[in-house]
Amino acid sequence: MTDISLKVNLGGLVMKNPVTVASGTFGYGIEYDHYFKVSELGAVTVKSLSLKPRPGNKPPRISETPAGLLNAIGLQNVGIEVYLKEKLPLLREKNCTIIANIYGFSPEEYAELAQRLEKEGGADAIEANLSCPNVHDAKASCGPALVAQSPESVAEYTRIIRSATSLPLYIKLSPNVADIREPALAAQEGGADAVALINTLLGMNIDVETRRPCLRNLVGGLSGPAIRPVAVKMVWDAARVLSIPVLGMGGISSPEDAIQFLLAGATAVAVGSATFRRPDAALQIVKGLHDYCARQGIDDIRQLIGALES
Ligand SMILES: Cc1cc2nc3c(=O)[nH]c(=O)nc-3n(C[C@H](O)[C@H](O)[C@H](O)COP(=O)(O)O)c2cc1C
Repeated sequence: MTDISLKVNLGGLVMKNPVTVASGTFGYGIEYDHYFKVSELGAVTVKSLSLKPRPGNKPPRISETPAGLLNAIGLQNVGIEVYLKEKLPLLREKNCTIIANIYGFSPEEYAELAQRLEKEGGADAIEANLSCPNVHDAKASCGPALVAQSPESVAEYTRIIRSATSLPLYIKLSPNVADIREPALAAQEGGADAVALINTLLGMNIDVETRRPCLRNLVGGLSGPAIRPVAVKMVWDAARVLSIPVLGMGGISSPEDAIQFLLAGATAVAVGSATFRRPDAALQIVKGLHDYCARQGIDDIRQLIGALES
């Protein structure tokens, strides 16, 4: 284990391996510590935090699909106060590297969240979720556009959050766009240290017996293996035009999946829905990356980043 380095630097954050978890699929991290030592991950990414606690959407808010799942959780979270008081001390006690994902209803709210997190030692890096598909009323046709669907808004939000924190700042983007390079470049222009790709793809599931949508919110975000090829393509597209690194995610459930993202240009990866099948999925992927490097005679995992042959 000692002669292979899995260490990466994600926009200023040194991670002992390139594997974190996807926000919203791993609670606040500590819930999983009785399955495995969560500090063994490159970082723990916590559920989106907002200024005030949020109850989220009404159920049903999860629906299974072939090779994936639709969710419309609606950013249920304990709010920043409870996070700082009750969750953070446990994460710090366990020596976890923390990526705090934040959600606000204005650029100023994001900035306030980032500022508080930095001031109170609540994060080692910030991931700003500009791409949640589940907080708007779906009945209003497609709802208001996501911030991440407008490159101008992405640049503006990023600039404002950037000015509020010196922590590594990642901007989490949406796959629900025609060309991912535009918002990715806008995040870079606004001063982001990395982009996180991808959030969920908008989708719908209908119960044909009741003729009703399976989700109370009508539509939701699709995640899991079904979206992996879309995510790999978007990471590949973005990585070729950016000078900042990419945190890749979407359907990763095996070490080989994670390696696809690295080869496509991601510097690190996040494991999301796979954790629902196997709570230690992310740790198994760390181990599998090591085995792959050993098998391939690679002594530094960074050799794989963007190493796609074509
Ligand atoms: C149940 C659930 C809740 C999620 N909540 C959040 C969230 O709070 N903030 C966020 O940025 N992304 C959230 N996501 C999106 C994931 O972080 C990730 O981008 C997406 O699920 C793709 O990865 P996966 O296919 O490995 O799950 C959520 C996903 C799921 C399935």
